[in-house]
Amino acid sequence: MGLGVGSSVASTTMTDAQAPFLLACRCEPAPWTPVWFMRQAGRSLPEFRALREKHTFFELGQSAELTAEITSQPVRRLGVDAAIIFSDIVTPLVAVGIEVDMQPGRGPIFASPFTSAADLQRLRPLEPEIDQAPLLDAIRLLVKDLAVPLIGFAGAPFTMASYLVEGGPSRDYARTKSLMLGAPALWHALMERLADLALATLRAQVEAGAAAVQLFDSWAGVLDPHHYTEFVLPASARVLAGLADLGVPRIHFGVTTGELLGQMATAGADVVGIDWRVPLDAAWARVGDRAVQGNLDPAVLGAPWPVVAAEADRVLAAADGRPGHVFNLGHGVLPETDPEVLRRLVDHVHERTRRGT
Ligand code: CP3
Repeated sequence: MGLGVGSSVASTTMTDAQAPFLLACRCEPAPWTPVWFMRQAGRSLPEFRALREKHTFFELGQSAELTAEITSQPVRRLGVDAAIIFSDIVTPLVAVGIEVDMQPGRGPIFASPFTSAADLQRLRPLEPEIDQAPLLDAIRLLVKDLAVPLIGFAGAPFTMASYLVEGGPSRDYARTKSLMLGAPALWHALMERLADLALATLRAQVEAGAAAVQLFDSWAGVLDPHHYTEFVLPASARVLAGLADLGVPRIHFGVTTGELLGQMATAGADVVGIDWRVPLDAAWARVGDRAVQGNLDPAVLGAPWPVVAAEADRVLAAADGRPGHVFNLGHGVLPETDPEVLRRLVDHVHERTRRGT
């Protein structure tokens, strides 16, 4: 089959409702605490870097075979309990014709940032089966062979808007906030279009076979809670509500969201992602009766192994064996992370949490 994504020891499949990751997302008891890592596919893996030397980032995404291969690399090497489709939060924007350059170490850079109502015309509706054919074909290929559930994802409207408006990564999000507060009607129109885009790609990813989805609102934590509720929450809630009939777990994640967790929980996700700035038990109390995902500080992985193990144990102690914990980092894997530490960490969490059969 050429992809090498199969597994002879597969005891779960993509759609297997008993997969530990899916059980935990539904707050049901799982045989062990499932683990995956945001940004597990990518720059920390030598096999990804080797492919990246030959192709640009977006070229990789144009090939269903390479996309499937990169998605499965961390499953093979690390033994994680879920795969996440190799893509980016800006790919639906690229798919509707927005010009983006992916600069290593910096991220997506937009040739002409969003500044006025005229720019809304550039955001035509996404037709996933046409505009994202390689991505959906990759999902269909993966569904056949992968031994663990596959997570589809999209950027949440605010985080996509921040890249469009700033033109790239930002420290203070001043332009984004000026547009939001200074031109609220235009802002809401932009959020509407981006919510439609996120919803279209997520529905298509699930229809192609993704068993769960994650909505990345990575930069929502830069907002005042009042502004978050007024200008951002409704659009994210609309995306999450628009997926409800598909019956797959919906994960909602952002960084520095400690003060927003209560509101984020009202957006309708089944699982809330927690960064490391709030202890997992305190965060869980803020999001209420739903599953949580997190929350080891990714920088910890650069420490000697006994420290990594002790820090992971601290996260597990905060979860206290309660059903509904998906172990993850508080944000993405850092590029300099040693993959061997990631692999040991997966084993460690599995061993510490394995429950009697
Ligand atoms: O393994 C996975 O998690 C799946 C793949 C994935 C990528 N980007 C691949 C990628 C996912 C889930 C993303 C999401 C993403 N992209 C987010 C949300 C998650 C987060 O980190 O908060 C955001 C904010 C982006 C925007 C973006 N794209 C950034 C900030 C960068 C990093 C720039 C850098 O090189 O440090 C990217 C580029 C990117 N996305 C790479 C990969 C593998 C590296 C690109 C390259 O090889 O040049």
